[in-house]
Amino acid sequence: MINVTVENAEGERQTLEVPTDIGLNLMEVLKAYEYDIMATCGGMGLCATCHIEVLQGAENLNPCNDNELDTLDTLPDADENSRLACQIRPAENMNGLSLRLRALQEA
Ligand code: FES
Repeated sequence: MINVTVENAEGERQTLEVPTDIGLNLMEVLKAYEYDIMATCGGMGLCATCHIEVLQGAENLNPCNDNELDTLDTLPDADENSRLACQIRPAENMNGLSLRLRALQEA
């Protein structure tokens, strides 16, 4: 179990307890906490509705694969801190990760 701090579109922050041993990706965890992420591609890294900005802890994340980079490239507001939550597998070394939800603001 790790702690992940999430800032929503309104700037409200909440620290979530995120399991690392049940095979959920970060998008699925956020949905389980009832964040309103459409995830229309089902976690394939294609729809970008799970776009997040990593505020802290980016160095501990698994690197972007080509598919994720291609999708992020299509977003006008993506920057070097952007990731797709569905492509992140929570792991013990990610404790303290902090992120901001991005896709909701454009929806
Ligand atoms: S859920 Fe579609 S890109 Fe992550």
